[in-house]
Amino acid sequence: MESREPLAIDRTGKDIHAEARQIRSRGQVAQIELPGGVPAYSVIGHEAARQVLADHRFSKDPRKHWTAYVRGEIGEDFPLIGWVLMDNLTTKHGADHTRLRKLTAKAFTPRRVEAMRTSIEKIATTLLDQLPTGEVTDLRAHYAHPLPAQVICDLFGVPAESRAQMLRGGEVNADTTISPEEAAANVVQWEEEMREFVASKRNSPGDDLTSDLIAAHEDGSRLTDSELVGTLHLLLATGTTPVMNLVTNATAALLTHPEQAHLVLSGQVPWQAAIEETLRVDAPVAHLPFRFTVEDVEVAGTTIPQGSPVLIHFAGIGRDPEVHGETADRFDVTRQDKTNLSFGHGIYRCIGSPLAWLETEIALSALFERFPNLDLAVRPEELEPQGTFIMNGRETLPVRLTGQAQA
Ligand code: HEM
Repeated sequence: MESREPLAIDRTGKDIHAEARQIRSRGQVAQIELPGGVPAYSVIGHEAARQVLADHRFSKDPRKHWTAYVRGEIGEDFPLIGWVLMDNLTTKHGADHTRLRKLTAKAFTPRRVEAMRTSIEKIATTLLDQLPTGEVTDLRAHYAHPLPAQVICDLFGVPAESRAQMLRGGEVNADTTISPEEAAANVVQWEEEMREFVASKRNSPGDDLTSDLIAAHEDGSRLTDSELVGTLHLLLATGTTPVMNLVTNATAALLTHPEQAHLVLSGQVPWQAAIEETLRVDAPVAHLPFRFTVEDVEVAGTTIPQGSPVLIHFAGIGRDPEVHGETADRFDVTRQDKTNLSFGHGIYRCIGSPLAWLETEIALSALFERFPNLDLAVRPEELEPQGTFIMNGRETLPVRLTGQAQA
């Protein structure tokens, strides 16, 4: 039984894996305290997480199932308010979730995604052409971010001049170091931007997913106005940050494990193995809010009371020693069992995973083919974490693009 004080989560995300070990020392499910002093539960055991992710007694809808929120005890001063107020798949339960998921998932089927291969390859090539050789450059800013950002903005028909601003809402939302005022202002701002964007697309629809979503909205109101705006926000955000983190984390892992990079670059181990191992050991989405218990639920010996907020610790789940043994923390592309839940599990499983896989495979193989002697420009311990406990990436990835660039 849990008897200690809940573990206060570090909002700066300074060392997500060290914090995960602390949480795990309390069990597969542990009581935590979120910024703003809000009590919650963290699910960090692999088995426990599989149960929770597939259990309908865990809702995603705060308006119906978070007792403190329904009672008005969670106000705009809650620093994670952005995660509560958005109206999209991340806050839907039951039939509402099924309806919205069907509409959104259509856009990301493996077949539709495969058709994007050539355009993603072109984007990667252009970005690589622009990287300055012989200098230290931030690979996150100049490659790992712009690649998925461009792909998702192209898909949704976002004009070049509004891209940075339209992506900002999701980036700020993922930053858990911001003040409650900034969090609340961000919600107002991105909602306004998305509404303006929808209005402009209504006037001049294009061959893009925003126009498809608008058509779905207008065809029998299968999508409300607020869901349309919330869904756009979600897809622009999820389309960029987690993919950027996967590319950044995989590149950092390979550059700090040259013997493993050699196995991959020599073709002895496929790129898929390096990507899967990165997903396991350095999950791009670290500690995700929210689920809410619709009744008291027992998980791994802990009873989570009805109406409690629950976070899923994907970064910890991938390193569960009960699944991966003593070497769970070690990056090893040759590991047989790379089991992880980093794209989720069950009915909420990531709808963007085929796209994320394709982008990451293209990004990494093109990068290392062009710069086989790519080198980290700082010591590994100098790589700064991302400044969030929800996501898991690096603030920058300084590399030296040495050697012969291969065009
Ligand atoms: C490496 C990249 C990515 C990772 C690690 C990732 C991770 C995840 C995870 C863990 C979930 C489950 C959340 C939960 O159970 O509450 C999820 C859901 C989701 N992801 Fe991703 N994601 C990635 C890329 C993408 C992309 C590219 C898109 C689309 C543009 C996307 C769209 C979504 C959506 C819409 C959901 C909600 C699904 C639902 O609630 O039914 N993701 N993602």
